[in-house]
This record gives sequence, C-alpha cells and structure tokens, in this order.
Amino acid sequence: MDKRVRWGIAGPGRMAATMAAEFAHSPSNQLVAVASRDHGRAMDFAAEHRIPTTYGSYAELCADRNIDAIFIATPHPQHADIALEAIANGKAVLVEKAFTDSVASSKRVISAARAAKVFCMEGVWTRFLPAVVKAREIIASGELGQVRAVQGDLTAFRTFDPADRLFDRAQGGGAMLDVGVYVLSFAQMFLGDPSSVHAVGGRLPNGVDGEFGLVLGYPDGRLATLQGGFTAQGPGRMMIACTNGWIDVLPRFHRASTIIVWRGKHAEELSFPSEGAGYFHELEHVAACLRDGLTESPIMPLRDTLIVQEIMQKALTQIP
Ligand SMILES: NC(=O)c1ccc[n+]([C@@H]2O[C@H](COP(=O)([O-])OP(=O)(O)OC[C@H]3O[C@@H](n4cnc5c(N)ncnc54)[C@H](OP(=O)(O)O)[C@@H]3O)[C@@H](O)[C@H]2O)c1
Repeated sequence: MDKRVRWGIAGPGRMAATMAAEFAHSPSNQLVAVASRDHGRAMDFAAEHRIPTTYGSYAELCADRNIDAIFIATPHPQHADIALEAIANGKAVLVEKAFTDSVASSKRVISAARAAKVFCMEGVWTRFLPAVVKAREIIASGELGQVRAVQGDLTAFRTFDPADRLFDRAQGGGAMLDVGVYVLSFAQMFLGDPSSVHAVGGRLPNGVDGEFGLVLGYPDGRLATLQGGFTAQGPGRMMIACTNGWIDVLPRFHRASTIIVWRGKHAEELSFPSEGAGYFHELEHVAACLRDGLTESPIMPLRDTLIVQEIMQKALTQIP
C-alpha cells in the first residue's frame, strides 16, 4: 500500500509552483490536489504540474477525504482562515511563511491545531537545509562554546509596485513579514527568545515597511543585529558568533548550501550538494513527523512561530 503523505495545495501562485516541482525530490510525499478561488486557474496549474484533482474553492480541498495534508501558499493574510478550515477537517497543515499577518491570527491557528491535535507547522524551510542542520549540530556539540551573537541580513531590491503582493497591504505586503521572518527565525533558533526588541526602518509611499534594522537583546548581554528590506541590494548572509569561534552561513543564507566554521584562525568550509530548490527537505520532515504521530515539529515548533510573530509585530510598531 502507498504510504506516502497525500498533499493538496491551496493557492496556485508562484510559491505553489516552486513547491509542486519539489515533490519529484520527496519520496515520502505525493501531490494529489490543488485548489484556487477560480476553478480554471486550478485546472491550468494541475495540467502544468500533473495533479489529478482540482477544486474551485479552498473549502472543497479542505473537505477532500483523499488528502492528508494541505500546503497553504496564499498571501499571509489569507493563511489563517484556510488553516482553520483545514484543521477543522483534520488535515495536517504546512503554512507558508509568514505564518499569518498578526499575533492574534497566529494564536487562533495554533490554538485550533493544538485543540484538534492536528499537525501544524510554519514553512520556514531554511531550518531544514542540510547546511543549517549542520550548523545547528556544531553549535549543539559545544565545540564553539556559547553563542553570543547572530548578525546578518536579507536584503533584495524590489521595484515598488503597490499592486504586487510584496507591497500590497491587503496581501500582507511589507519587508518585515516577507524577509524579516527569515532573519528573526534564524536568530531565534540559535539565541532563543529575546527580552528586548529595538527596530528602526522606513516606509514606502503606500505606508508598508520597506526596510528595517533590528537589535534583539538578551538579559545576559547576548544580542542579534539583523537587517533587511526591499530598498537595497545586499548579500543575504548570516554569522553566528560564539566564545570559541564563529560560523559564516554563506549567501544567500535562507537557501544556504555552504557554511564556514572558524576555529581560531582555521576555517573549515562545509558544502552540501543542492537538489531541486531545497524545499523538499521540509516536506520530508513533515512526512517524518506525521509518521511519528507528532502534531508539532521539534525543529520548527509553533512556539517559535509565535515568538517570531510577536517580535515582528513589536518591531513594526517602532517603525514610524
Ligand atoms: N518559502 C519561500 O521561499 C517563499 C517564497 C515565495 C513566497 N512565499 C510565501 O508564499 C505565499 C504566497 O506567495 P506567492 O509569491 O506565491 O504569491 P502569489 O504568486 O501572489 O500567489 C498567491 C496565490 O494565493 C491565492 N490567493 C488567495 N487569496 C488571495 C488574495 N486575497 N489575494 C491574492 N491572492 C490570493 C491566489 O490564487 P487563486 O486566486 O487562484 O486562489 C494566488 O495565486 C506568501 O505567504 C509568501 O510569503 C514563500
């Protein structure tokens, strides 16, 4: 019997297309359905990606008894309602980053998933890349000592277009929710939950945030300095500073394939072959969690999602 996890995609946009191609690299999963608000769009997407079942509404996808899990790839403000419907139907959910567009919405989804004992995870795929897994292992081994700081950026110039998802408030536009989530989730993974958040930045002509600088503080003096936005080009690198050395995560860190581990003056470069676009690692992780009967990922737990959402909300109130 085929034990693969049967997936449906909600929202046949750009990210959905990238993810659809990843199933070819993911032996534990199969993509069996896609839903759009418009049945024609679902059918076009299905034809392109050879998906057998199509729906003209997200509700029909959530009710499909032939599906185990739903990948939610709509803009962030639409994530919560679809996730709640999927959870109510007992489906596991992988929710694209940013998990939702507010702390309140994230809490609603997390509470519903926990109450229903349904698997739910934010799709922070970076945490599952072999290079990042290796960095975590090195830090956990203690050989570099204590992590004292994380420093990095995710910066990419984007031409302002108020109709584009990246800039349109109705579609969750703004740099914090799009790229801030990556730098914050990375820093939180290595430093834990900060006790203070300091943000500066600027807004674009329609009022959405276009660039930010963040300092996260910890009671014992540890810190993270992070930067991101759509107004400049930047490398997109990360550095984890420890008492006995440091790790450079080479650009672009959110899709990293190489880290450099510095022990004193000695640098060791560790590269990991890439396959597909790299998203299949998180798909395989979800399948393993479901096989093990888990309702949350130990690598990307919902508590981390909520902490990062809270930091983003706090930071956005500080950007004039
Ligand atoms: N992990 C990553 O590397 C990565 C990369 C890119 C994007 N993302 C995330 O994926 C999500 C989607 O981004 P995207 O770039 O794929 O967006 P997109 O190309 O605009 O596609 C979003 C899809 O959502 C559906 N949708 C449902 N309600 C909508 C609404 N009110 N307004 C607009 N579209 C709506 C649309 O499909 P129908 O109208 O056909 O239903 C649309 O095709 C975002 O949360 C984003 O952060 C993640």
